[in-house]
Amino acid sequence: MKPQDIMKEKGSKWIFGYGSLVWKPDFKYKRSKIGFVQGYKRRFWHGDDFHRGDKDKPGRVVTLVQDHEACTWGVAYEVAESQVEESLRYLDMREAVAGGYALELVEFTAREEKALQEHSHKLLALVYIATSDNPIYLGPAPESEIAAQIVLCRGSAGLNMEYLVCLAQFMRHCCADVEDEHLFSIEAAALALVL
Ligand code: SIN
Repeated sequence: MKPQDIMKEKGSKWIFGYGSLVWKPDFKYKRSKIGFVQGYKRRFWHGDDFHRGDKDKPGRVVTLVQDHEACTWGVAYEVAESQVEESLRYLDMREAVAGGYALELVEFTAREEKALQEHSHKLLALVYIATSDNPIYLGPAPESEIAAQIVLCRGSAGLNMEYLVCLAQFMRHCCADVEDEHLFSIEAAALALVL
């Protein structure tokens, strides 16, 4: 199934956030669940020349990269049918037009279902993902270089450092038992540069 197919269906829609959407959704939704998508790793490999950087100094923000062995934790938001048009219009401007992300579909498992081993209760969720064919995609780099870039960048939404720290805080507070080596080592390297 493609995002366009699910958009044609009636009823509420689920949207999975794994970057700024976990701590700053700013769109209308009726409830949210913490959980994960299997088969993707979260990486600071996307460039951002609007929200957290500019044309001269693009910031580094996260995208999802396929990896069978990985899973990425975040928040799925249920948007009521009556809110879908407004919320998706807002998110398309923020994520697709300004951010260079494209809409995809993923299977989301909520934390409570993981605990019950009830993987049959996966939800189909819309997600914004940036891929290497995007002109502002930056790709892999050593974590120390990613951190050094993040501490220098700022965009219309604020410091790239704020984006990094808020995402790390979300993982520490809401997903305390989940390892996220990439995120936490970039945060540690960035904090070491500024403190
Ligand atoms: C985004 O949602 O990708 C950008 C918003 C932000 O960085 O605060």
